[in-house]
Amino acid sequence: MVSRQELSWVPKEVDLDLPSSARVYDYLLGGGHNFEHDRVMAESLAAVVPIRIMAQLNRSFLRRAVLALCDQGIDQFLDLGSGIPTVGNVHEVVQQVNPDARVAYVDIDPVAVAHAELILAGDPRSIVLHADLRAPHTILDRPELRELLDFTRPVGLLMLGVLQYVSDEADPWEVIATYRKALSAGSFLAVSHFTPDGMPEEMAKLEAIFAKTAEPATTRSHTQIERMFAGFELLDPGLVYTVQWRPESPDDVGDHPERSNLLAGVGRKT
Ligand SMILES: C[S@@+](CC[C@H](N)C(=O)[O-])C[C@H]1O[C@@H](n2cnc3c(N)ncnc32)[C@H](O)[C@@H]1O
Repeated sequence: MVSRQELSWVPKEVDLDLPSSARVYDYLLGGGHNFEHDRVMAESLAAVVPIRIMAQLNRSFLRRAVLALCDQGIDQFLDLGSGIPTVGNVHEVVQQVNPDARVAYVDIDPVAVAHAELILAGDPRSIVLHADLRAPHTILDRPELRELLDFTRPVGLLMLGVLQYVSDEADPWEVIATYRKALSAGSFLAVSHFTPDGMPEEMAKLEAIFAKTAEPATTRSHTQIERMFAGFELLDPGLVYTVQWRPESPDDVGDHPERSNLLAGVGRKT
């Protein structure tokens, strides 16, 4: 067992006995910033759904979506629910294409933020904010964000693998609408989201596991997720399983795209 002293990089307020979606995801992607309770939760998810594949396919979608936005001329990104930085962070992907591109990361998890601060130290074009995306103005009004991103020009707004942690009561549709109002025309929204559509029984079990944690997850139908793009025009191929969104090769899709269990899309603000 690793002692608290050895974990000197972990912010004091972090409760190591509670799993967090950021650390569970980090473990599923092969990262090293997770604790025993995160790993136990990841393994219980793996027993009911192909959670590792789901995580990997979501991360690959992130890369393809961000590169597609670079192709559209986007050079500034706001990544909400950005997670623990692992290989293929948004700033790494976009700065390969455009070294001047700017990225603002936001996460509610103190471990994700602490680790991002370490990785981003010395990079003047990237910042990380510790904030809750459900309170858009606490993010949009931050001076550091306004200094980095120019909201009079198009922004790439990323909400990948995160909106399932926003309950119906917290109204993710209204939350997105608030961000949309802050964006100029020609901005983009990229979303990926747990859905029960393809594997309803298995995803109900996943929901039941999350329900026992501090971060319950809500799976949503194609129709409910598509409504998140109100005021945005979906780019081809529309809202599809992550693996089906502009695959690098048709062979990547396989016979069971529904096993990716997250729907993904990119829309342009009209
Ligand atoms: C599964 S990870 C996704 C990471 C990354 N966006 C990706 O797709 O590769 C979900 C992240 O959302 C964060 N998160 C959950 N609820 C949030 C909230 N209300 N505000 C900000 N971040 C949140 C979690 O801490 C976690 O890091």
